Amino acid sequence: MNLAVIGTGYVGLVTGTCFAETGNNVTCVDIDVNKVERLRKGEITIFEPGLDVLFERNSKQGRLKFTTDLNEAVASAQIIFLALPTPPGEDGSADLSYIMGVAKQLSHLIKDYKIIIDKSTVPVGTAERVHAIIAENTSETLFDVVSNPEFLREGVAVDDFMKPDRVVIGTTSERARKVMKQLYEPFVRQGNPIYFMDERSAEMTKYAANSYLATRISFMNEIANLCEKVNANVDMVRMGMGSDSRIGKRFLFPGVGYGGSCFPKDVQALARTATDFDYDFRILNAVMGVNDQQRYTLAEKIKAYFGQDLRGHTIGIWGLAFKPNTDDIREAPALYIIESLLAAGAKVKAFDPEAMNNIQRYFGDQIELCKDQYEVLIDADALAIVTEWSLFRTPSFQVMKELMKQDVIFDGRNLYDLEAMAEHGFHYHSIGRES
Ligand code: UGA
Repeated sequence: MNLAVIGTGYVGLVTGTCFAETGNNVTCVDIDVNKVERLRKGEITIFEPGLDVLFERNSKQGRLKFTTDLNEAVASAQIIFLALPTPPGEDGSADLSYIMGVAKQLSHLIKDYKIIIDKSTVPVGTAERVHAIIAENTSETLFDVVSNPEFLREGVAVDDFMKPDRVVIGTTSERARKVMKQLYEPFVRQGNPIYFMDERSAEMTKYAANSYLATRISFMNEIANLCEKVNANVDMVRMGMGSDSRIGKRFLFPGVGYGGSCFPKDVQALARTATDFDYDFRILNAVMGVNDQQRYTLAEKIKAYFGQDLRGHTIGIWGLAFKPNTDDIREAPALYIIESLLAAGAKVKAFDPEAMNNIQRYFGDQIELCKDQYEVLIDADALAIVTEWSLFRTPSFQVMKELMKQDVIFDGRNLYDLEAMAEHGFHYHSIGRES
């Protein structure tokens, strides 16, 4: 099949590449001339493990192309994915101006039957709005608008795309349904379901899934905070809870709050949708409130230990990306922690395996960026662990002690065993466990 993917950000690039991998001809469109130029030269513009191999193979074999020319891409495509940004507006609702802008352009370009697919996370009712805009200039028999939310996690996006737990397709058109089934069948050969539903339910499913996961995290962060007070160990509690098959083991890790380009934005947008429909979604408001505080928890622990005034103290940071295996620092807890430490007068040194360029752009020379995790520790009064990169899981504690000025660790991801840390002689503070 011939596909166009409009928007070559994270979702667009992974979607385009993975559909090319199953034999489709994919043209990816972006208005950013530089980006398209780089992609044409074979340079991947995002960091995503495993994407490079697929990208190279499909580009070489001519199934994956890049252009700035929307007209050309749309003319040859039967299926058009919209993978455009939906940043939060000032009131928390998703800003749909990119999607609506492209819909308007499409309304002038459609000459034969096309399926237009919302892949971005968009509020309930967006498919209907896109349909209405295109229908202003195109006959309704020439197109269908489908909601097909993506459930990719950064860092494992290729795997999530190639082997999805489920595919959700919102359409009430029988014609579109048949094409979508054919398009996705290669990805669900092991028997995972394709759920067909109406457009609004599909749009809601994405927000409900992300908001529920964010709720689990905020819930566990509160359990961890309480564990600290009652002197219980949240790791034990997590395992005890998670073995109940109704609860499940995954996504129960307390830490420094959820970040990234999805959860904060989507929880906020769903709460906003609820308000728009005159419904007070109390749980979501609490989820956001807990997360706002949890992002500062490590900085607060550091200040509780050294005092509110951190002038004269050097704090080393391991991990800046919002989670491992990505260079993404959008809404990363590290940003909040570092800002709080700097405001208290601390000197901050930091290292991350992938996010150094992004953090450099964000903080400039306000913090010292180090070439590896050990350089961070030289003359540090304390180490704060913010992202759970595998690299940080088994460091040489002996070398760490030699380099650090004081043997103090604040671990926002519970990477180490409490007894082992006591044996190594560290003052070790983690989340929801006695120190
Ligand atoms: C999330 C969802 O997991 C995807 O299914 C969804 O498609 C995506 O958003 C999206 O809407 O595009 P992502 O933001 O890449 O994916 O990252 P996650 O792995 O879900 O992690 C989100 C945040 O939660 C991270 O800050 C992570 O550190 C935190 N987290 C996760 C915890 O604090 N504890 C956990 O147990 C799990």
